[in-house]
Amino acid sequence: MSWQGLIHHYREFLPVTDKTPVISLLEGNTPLVFSQDLTDAVGPQVYLKYEGLNPTGSFKDRGMTMAISKALEKGSKIVMCASTGNTSASAAAYSARSRKLKCVVLIPDGNIALGKLAQAMIHQAQVIAIKGNFDQALTLVKDITNQYPVELVNSINPYRIEGQKTAAFEICDTLSDAPEFHAIPVGNAGNITAYWKGYKEYKKVGRSKGLPKMLGFQAAGAAPIVLGHPVEKPETIATAIRIGNPASWKSAEAARDESGGLIDAVTDDEILEAYKRLAAASGVFVEPASAASVAGILKLSRQGYFRNHKKARLVCTVTGHGLKDPNIAIKNITNPVVLEADIKTILKEIGL
Ligand code: F0G
Repeated sequence: MSWQGLIHHYREFLPVTDKTPVISLLEGNTPLVFSQDLTDAVGPQVYLKYEGLNPTGSFKDRGMTMAISKALEKGSKIVMCASTGNTSASAAAYSARSRKLKCVVLIPDGNIALGKLAQAMIHQAQVIAIKGNFDQALTLVKDITNQYPVELVNSINPYRIEGQKTAAFEICDTLSDAPEFHAIPVGNAGNITAYWKGYKEYKKVGRSKGLPKMLGFQAAGAAPIVLGHPVEKPETIATAIRIGNPASWKSAEAARDESGGLIDAVTDDEILEAYKRLAAASGVFVEPASAASVAGILKLSRQGYFRNHKKARLVCTVTGHGLKDPNIAIKNITNPVVLEADIKTILKEIGL
């Protein structure tokens, strides 16, 4: 049967019943793409979990199909989130699809990528830009949703994590086991929490045998977990992970420690280098935050971390599509040459 969305496919692992009104855009079932370039560079067999191919272009759709379905089941009328962009795009789309829920989003003014803003607006969310950062927006949303009958759909909503854990299931199903390593960008830290939960649950029921070491990567200017304290003014070009006080801090540390992995920081330069490399040598166009996972494994490889792990499998989650943030792409290319519409001139330029 054709794919009918992750709630349908992984129903036995999710807190849904026959009464849950499922709002789906057929999210999930994303490709696990082998990268020869990164395998050559890093050592282990590198696979990219291409989450930019979800309906709204990011992994957030996995959590949102659950959060929105459960909000409807509960009878909520309004959902709300703080967002660096992707959560708002996803919440707006799934709310629109429900045809019942109003969606309100708080975003940090001036620090969300153009594509994401366009998505939230075209899906008719009420978008409020605050003069502050993501962490301040999340504090406001928590206060409001605590006091009013408004459902919070950030990843502190447990249904978000439940939906997102299915990415780990898909990886195990494709590889016939868990990989040895899993690299992932870390912002508010919901996704690393979700993957680790998913890997553990699959192992527990015997659908996989091993567990990966979880390798989380924050942007150096927004690396509270690496530093061990909140960052008041986080800064990075990877605006999706421009977060100084992650909500799932503790569970990210638990994923790191239980798995024997690590959480490290990568600089904006390293992120941009990985971003360009993914597009140029793997054919995979991601947004800058997604490239943090790849920047991270390149950094670890330089340090010799993967020595003696040539046979191992390493999955990198690339979380969001490159078209989300066209401005960054345009800043990192040279403009095309403009020539007369004349075959000789063009052939000369090509070198033919
Ligand atoms: N990559 C992308 C593209 C993201 O949008 C996010 C988070 C992350 C990585 C980090 O995931 O927060 O679970 O650790 N974006 C959130 C948002 C914060 O509002 O869209 P995380």
